[in-house]
Amino acid sequence: MGFQYGQMGMCFWVFLCVWCFSMVKLQSVNESVVGGSVLIDGKMVVGRIDSDFICATLDWWPPEKCDYGTCSWDRASLLNLDLSNNILLNAVKAFSPLKIRLGGTLQDKVIYETEGQKKPCVPITKNTSQMFGFTQGCLPIHRWDELNSFFNKSGAKIIFGLNALTGRTVQPDNSATGAWDSSNAESLMRYTVSKGYIIHGWELGNELCGTGVGAHVAANQYASDTISLQSIVQEVYKDVEAKPLIIAPGGFYDQGWFRAFIDKTNNSVDVLTHHIYNLGPGVDEHLIEKILNPSYLDGEASTFSGLQSTIRSSTSSAVAWVGEAGGAYNSGRNLVSNAFVFSFCALLWHQLMGRNVLSTTFNGTKKIRAYAHCAKNSNGVTLLLINLDGNTTVQAQVNFNITLLLRRKHIHRKHTHNHSHHYRAKIIRTHQRNESSSQREEYHLTAKDGNLHSQTMLLNGKILSVNSTGDIPALEPIKVNSSELITVSPYSIVFVHMPYIALPACR
Ligand SMILES: *[C@@H]1O[C@H](CO)[C@@H](O)[C@H](O)[C@H]1NC(C)=O
Ligand SMILES: *[C@@H]1O[C@H](CO)[C@@H](O)[C@H](O)[C@H]1NC(C)=O
Ligand SMILES: *[C@@H]1O[C@H](CO)[C@@H](O)[C@H](O)[C@H]1NC(C)=O
Ligand SMILES: *[C@@H]1O[C@H](CO)[C@@H](O)[C@H](O)[C@H]1NC(C)=O
Ligand SMILES: *[C@@H]1O[C@H](CO)[C@@H](O)[C@H](O)[C@H]1NC(C)=O
Ligand SMILES: *[C@@H]1O[C@H](CO)[C@@H](O)[C@H](O)[C@H]1NC(C)=O
Ligand SMILES: *[C@@H]1O[C@H](CO)[C@@H](O)[C@H](O)[C@H]1NC(C)=O
Ligand SMILES: *[C@@H]1O[C@H](CO)[C@@H](O)[C@H](O)[C@H]1NC(C)=O
Ligand SMILES: *[C@@H]1O[C@H](CO)[C@@H](O)[C@H](O)[C@H]1NC(C)=O
Ligand SMILES: *[C@@H]1O[C@H](CO)[C@@H](O)[C@H](O)[C@H]1NC(C)=O
Ligand SMILES: *[C@@H]1O[C@H](CO)[C@@H](O)[C@H](O)[C@H]1NC(C)=O
Repeated sequence: MGFQYGQMGMCFWVFLCVWCFSMVKLQSVNESVVGGSVLIDGKMVVGRIDSDFICATLDWWPPEKCDYGTCSWDRASLLNLDLSNNILLNAVKAFSPLKIRLGGTLQDKVIYETEGQKKPCVPITKNTSQMFGFTQGCLPIHRWDELNSFFNKSGAKIIFGLNALTGRTVQPDNSATGAWDSSNAESLMRYTVSKGYIIHGWELGNELCGTGVGAHVAANQYASDTISLQSIVQEVYKDVEAKPLIIAPGGFYDQGWFRAFIDKTNNSVDVLTHHIYNLGPGVDEHLIEKILNPSYLDGEASTFSGLQSTIRSSTSSAVAWVGEAGGAYNSGRNLVSNAFVFSFCALLWHQLMGRNVLSTTFNGTKKIRAYAHCAKNSNGVTLLLINLDGNTTVQAQVNFNITLLLRRKHIHRKHTHNHSHHYRAKIIRTHQRNESSSQREEYHLTAKDGNLHSQTMLLNGKILSVNSTGDIPALEPIKVNSSELITVSPYSIVFVHMPYIALPACR
């Protein structure tokens, strides 16, 4: 599959952003203002994200990769990307540490130019009679050196997707049989370690699990190959202090397959990766309607919690990641998923949203998505509101549900059974406290001229762009009196940092 996002693309956060800015401008003939309220549960954390939550994929697709008549990849492949581009370097640095996964459909057709590799190191070329429409290709070792030099300079954390089809035979029914031949992968690892290149994780295969895309490998076989990968890594890294993660299977979640795989991997996997393309193919003319329909976002939660409960019900201590996501598969859709401006939304996420996730609900309209985290590197809470409605401005009030534990002594009542604690729910409104003297910081992101196909994004009304030296601008908030409601314009994203809110969950 694949999705081109500027020059890279994937990940969970893309959803939060793709969903708001990849929309067409529709005629706004009936604009209205409605009220609503956000309720943030301040008592406990409902989830934790990694501090390096933001991630991206560099894919292998050559410029000849086309879908539905559009060839969108150009020179965005890890084989031909211009690594001397200053904007690219600054963008990766801005997210430091950005996790970059190297992989995608063709990773299972790529060989590495290493010692012992007898085949000539030739590029991937188009051949429609072969699986995925391309021939086998090769990663030249000098390119691997250049890539690592770039990763080192930019401070990225690298996840390398290994070819998991080597040694197997793809049968007419697309099942890939036989054991994984790890020799070329092992040579690449040995070379990598000898050069001192740091790899955050080695991931086995791309979309070969379940029914697969192109080819599929049975769960039992995949599990034993993953155990082999782990023992190779243990051997190759035996004198290296920082051990890389073992990651698999990098494909679509299939409960039966994942369950069997986890049970058989003998806890050799650190991270279970799954891919998300819940909008369907990029050719879909109804992409916009899907994007605007909150049920598509809601639907994704059940896939992720399905994977998490499969892990929880096993003896594995692995964690779940979204390894690749782009909304619409087969390279996304032009002017829907390739808006460069997503990066600014992601950058604000990276700068403002801390690791602790708070339970957040919005009462008023289904078209507002609300997310709250404890603030990052700062006091208080950051709230993210996304308005999926193009006609309605929402004025939101923020409430916090803080159940206070009040201990009452029943000294006057002899017949009191015991001294159990009494609980009382207390909902506080921010402006009913001392906070009227406080100011919050707001970041309003909108599309230029209200045209959601625009590849230009405005922050608080001002165009965001890199300057002539390719430097990324500082993302400056506006200050708003905390007694005011939060105004969320049609089709906008609003980050609100409330430094004055001290919640038990964020202590
Ligand atoms: C405008 O919106 C309101 C409330 O949603 C609705 O009652 C009214 O019929 C709409 N008017 C038009 C012209 O669509
Ligand atoms: C394309 O692949 C097929 C099957 O492997 C092969 O027979 C054919 O020669 C290839 N075509 C070209 C132009 O390389
Ligand atoms: C970059 O390479 C240097 C020298 O090998 C090493 O000390 C440093 O930790 C590397 N930095 C990253 C981010 O990999
Ligand atoms: C799984 O782990 C157990 C206990 O460490 C070991 O006895 C068994 O051989 C392992 N299985 C495989 C396939 O490595
Ligand atoms: C949601 O809003 C409606 C209308 O303002 C109100 O009647 C209702 O009590 C609210 N529900 C919650 C859970 O706050
Ligand atoms: C705004 O409302 C009008 C009338 O109800 C509708 O025709 C139009 O499609 C809406 N625009 C958006 C962006 O939702
Ligand atoms: C506030 O939290 C308490 C305890 O978790 C819960 O029982 C109550 O329903 C919550 N109140 C609202 C309005 O969600
Ligand atoms: C105290 O009261 C609570 C609530 O009625 C009850 O659940 C608990 O078992 C009681 N504890 C004792 C020690 O009686
Ligand atoms: C109220 O706000 C003022 C000014 O920001 C601050 O000095 C004071 O400590 C606050 N009082 C309480 C009880 O939080
Ligand atoms: C915020 O607004 C309230 C009510 O209008 C006012 O009393 C307070 O002085 C304002 N605070 C600031 C910092 O402007
Ligand atoms: C570009 O922005 C950076 C950071 O804000 C600044 O240091 C640099 O001087 C700017 N360059 C130009 C040509 O304005």
